[in-house]
Amino acid sequence: MQVPERYLITSALPYANGPLHVGHIAGAYLPADIYVRYLRKQKRDVLFICGSDEHGAAITIQAKKENTTPQAIIDKYHKVIETAFKGLGISFDIYHRTSSPIHHETSQEFFLKLYNNQVFEEKESEQYYDEAYNQFLADRYIMGTCPVCANPNAYGDQCEKCGTSLSPNDLINPVSTLSNQPPIKKATKHWYLPLNKFQNWLNDWIIKGEGQTEEWKKNVLGQCASWINNGLHPRAITRDLDWGVKVPLAGAEGKVLYVWLDAPIGYISATKQWSLNTGKDWEPYWKSNTSKLVHFIGKDNIVFHCLIFPCILKSHGEYILPTNIPANEFMNMEGDKMSTSRNWSVQLHTYLEEFPGKEDVMRYVLCANMPETKDSEFTWKDFQARNNNELVAILGNYANRVMVLTAKYNDGKVPELNEALLSEPYVVAYQAQIKSLIEEVYCPAIENYRFRDALSAMLDVVRLGNKLLTDYEPWKLIKTDEAKTLGILRLCLESLVDIAIVCEPFLPFSANKILGYFNLSDPGFNYLNIKLSTGAALGAPFYLFEKVEDEVIAKKLAELEEIRKSRMEKEQSIDNQQVEKVNPLKPTIAFEDFSKLDIRTGKITSAEKIQGADKLLKLNVDLGFEQRVIVSGIALHFTPEQLIGQQVAVLVNLAPRKMRGVESNGMILMAEDAQGKLHFVQTPDSTESGMPIS
Ligand code: MF3
Ligand code: ZN
Repeated sequence: MQVPERYLITSALPYANGPLHVGHIAGAYLPADIYVRYLRKQKRDVLFICGSDEHGAAITIQAKKENTTPQAIIDKYHKVIETAFKGLGISFDIYHRTSSPIHHETSQEFFLKLYNNQVFEEKESEQYYDEAYNQFLADRYIMGTCPVCANPNAYGDQCEKCGTSLSPNDLINPVSTLSNQPPIKKATKHWYLPLNKFQNWLNDWIIKGEGQTEEWKKNVLGQCASWINNGLHPRAITRDLDWGVKVPLAGAEGKVLYVWLDAPIGYISATKQWSLNTGKDWEPYWKSNTSKLVHFIGKDNIVFHCLIFPCILKSHGEYILPTNIPANEFMNMEGDKMSTSRNWSVQLHTYLEEFPGKEDVMRYVLCANMPETKDSEFTWKDFQARNNNELVAILGNYANRVMVLTAKYNDGKVPELNEALLSEPYVVAYQAQIKSLIEEVYCPAIENYRFRDALSAMLDVVRLGNKLLTDYEPWKLIKTDEAKTLGILRLCLESLVDIAIVCEPFLPFSANKILGYFNLSDPGFNYLNIKLSTGAALGAPFYLFEKVEDEVIAKKLAELEEIRKSRMEKEQSIDNQQVEKVNPLKPTIAFEDFSKLDIRTGKITSAEKIQGADKLLKLNVDLGFEQRVIVSGIALHFTPEQLIGQQVAVLVNLAPRKMRGVESNGMILMAEDAQGKLHFVQTPDSTESGMPIS
């Protein structure tokens, strides 16, 4: 492998609108930190960049929710997040902010350069606009009824009830969340990045791997392939919003860069700020092809980092492209999606407060369960088990035994080397094993972003030391051969330093404690070549880790149970409210209005699921005089088999409507009981289809 001259490592900039949870850490921050610490240990030139992502409608909405300003929100959470990262030992060279002037300038320069190169397309389109507030509405600012599941509180970008991603135009009866009034449509001009024009290049670069020096992860390639194969479309890169980086063009007042355009440029502006802080040159990191750029992200960021940002960098022309983007999947918790807004997470800053001194325990547990190839799971029981059975019982126990034996047999001083011992076949084999574990397993695993494998190789190094100890039994040997006993201890002490070296990327706090015992500051990456000075005083023996007791775990689980219960109660009461909302009588209508409804008897003749829509079924309905295709949102209530032959009442003159690409021609009438169970409306004993109901 050719070692790059320098590394530029980035972790996704977290939105400064809420605290981080440990799922974020396992996804994008811990793996980057492990990688960076490993590289630094080898004295490679590496720069580790991150910062807060402080623009976007999510932040203005959060401000509204907390009844404050966007600035107050980002100031608050920038601090919370930065402090929490520090607390966990995430070792950025800079943690910057996208609200900074240098970022605004850098993003505007970028935009202008691409604008002048005529990379963008200008287009006018009709967008929702709130007349009372005189502003265009970001997708999240519009709510309405979900066309798929009829949830009345769906957002313009997504229905949180059925998970369907929507566009504001899909919503039935859209309402602005600002004024609570229906928005109007108004024409507005925006700039678009024509991703379609980059389609071939992206396909060559990502899927065919042209010009790539590293293999990308399967989960990343899979997502990219699906975007590319579905066909790429122009993406608007500006927004009508008053919070963000202003579009630097005359006549673009009230428009800002789309947050996903400016945020990744934040990596660049942060590097510039780092350069100002340190006096070192930033440009080689971004502009020299002897540099290696790696983005650490979660899977929801793949399209932005693998497709969009590379198009931006390439269009600019002076910048290198990422060598790799080892995106992780998601980490769930106790059987449910981790989420701050749903109050189902372990927040990093709370953990650090509640478990002081246990930073490495969380790092260890998150790395052991890192969602590298598929979604993974954090559970408190696993947290306890990994702490007690691995950190305490293997690593902590070994280190403590070596320290205690040295205190006992050599007065807490470094014992002499025993040359004869070193040439014993057992010891020769032992050292060869350590070497091959580190060089053939540990290093390649880290270099290839397989941090779980590297972590278990690290623990195997500890196991080897432990085995040396149990095989030679110094506590027995001391009675017959003191010189050899001390030689064993010397070897064990050296292995402890090796362990400090290989565990540092994962467990930096513990590595420091071990080095403190030896009074060493930085042994470099010189495992198996540790120069301890014979007779030097060592520290007092200690335990690196302590057991996590059952009560602690029981308490955490009880807290979660409380949350689960109160969430269920809340959902129940929302459901009840909805029932109450539905139950009151609707206003009186004229007979003419009623007579407009053409309702007929019918019979379902076939039913099938619609791909990608959990709730929808495509039904064929026999109306006697014709067959109709009707899409109905009842898939969660009935299996297709249950429906064949079902007598139904159908509103047949409802305007056709397309759902998931299938045109629906009519509506099946249903009655819903208080439990939400659906019942067909049907004529008793009727066998004939097509009879009018009036
Ligand atoms: N704030 C985004 C998120 O949390 C990530 C931004 S990464 C960057 O999903 F590249 F845009 F900076
Ligand atoms: Zn829905």
